[in-house]
Amino acid sequence: MRGFRTIIEPFRIKSVEPLRLSTRDEREAQLAAAGLNLFRLRSEDVLIDLLTDSGTGAMSAEQWAALQRGDESYAGSPSYFRFERAVRELFPYRHVIPTHQGRAAEKILFSVAGGAGRVVPSNTLFDTTRANVEASGATGVDLLYAEGRRPSLRHPFKGNLDVGALERLIGEVGRDRVPLVLVTVTNNSGGGQPVSLENLRAVRAVCSRHGIPLFLDACRFAENAWFIREREPGQQSRTVTAIVREMSSLADGMTMSAKKDGLANIGGWLALNDDAWAERCRNLLILTEGFPTYGGLAGRDLDAIAVGLQEVVQHDYLRYRARSVEYLGEALEKRGVPIVVPTGGHAVYLDAAALLPQVPALQYPGQALSIALYREGGLRSCEIGSVMFGLQPDGSERPAAMELVRLAVPRRTYTQSHVDFVIEVVERVAARARDLKGLRIIDGPRPLRHFTARFEEVG
Ligand code: F0G
Repeated sequence: MRGFRTIIEPFRIKSVEPLRLSTRDEREAQLAAAGLNLFRLRSEDVLIDLLTDSGTGAMSAEQWAALQRGDESYAGSPSYFRFERAVRELFPYRHVIPTHQGRAAEKILFSVAGGAGRVVPSNTLFDTTRANVEASGATGVDLLYAEGRRPSLRHPFKGNLDVGALERLIGEVGRDRVPLVLVTVTNNSGGGQPVSLENLRAVRAVCSRHGIPLFLDACRFAENAWFIREREPGQQSRTVTAIVREMSSLADGMTMSAKKDGLANIGGWLALNDDAWAERCRNLLILTEGFPTYGGLAGRDLDAIAVGLQEVVQHDYLRYRARSVEYLGEALEKRGVPIVVPTGGHAVYLDAAALLPQVPALQYPGQALSIALYREGGLRSCEIGSVMFGLQPDGSERPAAMELVRLAVPRRTYTQSHVDFVIEVVERVAARARDLKGLRIIDGPRPLRHFTARFEEVG
């Protein structure tokens, strides 16, 4: 419906999940029991859950129908072939290897391509990706375009990789130590920001010159392609499908979490052209995931993904998706709440360091803000700051580069009135953010502490 001001949710609701409204006293008790860590809450105690957009979206009627069609044969199931066809429609790589989620694909890829002494350049490696690169003994190097590191700077493609820095890195370490370059689309850790086709072409040119394969971490490929269509000169009349095919043609392979732009609750894959790598990957797959035609998934999951991939590239869906995230960001900006701009494809990131200047980084302003959002309105968000990144391998602490709180928007799940409610909660908390106190962690240092740590308020 072009020409109308209001962009509607392009679906109606057939099956509802009731939300349980709670009182402030109840939320206070739940926070205390959870040690002021939102990961430790029971999800039934959360009113609006913006912890992640991963696997938390709603499936369509067609996807639920596809589940029924799922074939659970151990080998050679028609579900696999429907899945493979849907993947190759967008990403025509020779080998398509299903995995139970994105990090399993990463683990397998870097077990083959990584290893001690190797260096994996990226715009920004997502946490699990970096962990898998490092677990193989290799080093991950983030080469994000300088514009991407400035939260308040507006730029259409803040996910771009710094091509000059890539060239210099390859010159320094030598081509033989770089097994592949990985570009994350969109750049989740940098605010869900897209990468332009122009940038992908430039990265491809550097890779080709040195004979280095280029891979995509394609979790949010459709959101990225939508931003290309909206923002990149000359792309406005193309379909998202055509743009996705061009993105994939520039790379030699991909890792994927179907929990994002697969519109599924679980799943992922690894796809690539190289026959020798593919064979080694399939052998590893059999060790931990399963036979190569199901890779840790049920046949019905493969069918849900196959349908999800057809739905995720539809323009009405993507227009609504981008607009609903932008709507949230725009409203917060209008109310003077500092956020990362422009808004990304899947989330709005609040700048907690700017909102809570009285709280030092190592008293976790992001955590304090996310706790306040839950206390106020039952909202669950995720700290992306010094709790998540501050702990060093030697047990000491260092402030993270930014203190952010991510409001990730699950796909097709919440309506505009839910988002209006979120805006009201954030506005109320922001109005008295200067009164919020910092936190300290009351249990010992441990890896991935953000999932389990307990906190208490300082003073
Ligand atoms: N790559 C990116 C860019 C991601 O955002 C994620 C997951 C993964 C890889 C790993 O995929 O979860 O299926 O194993 N991101 C989720 C999030 C967890 O909340 O942003 P997975």
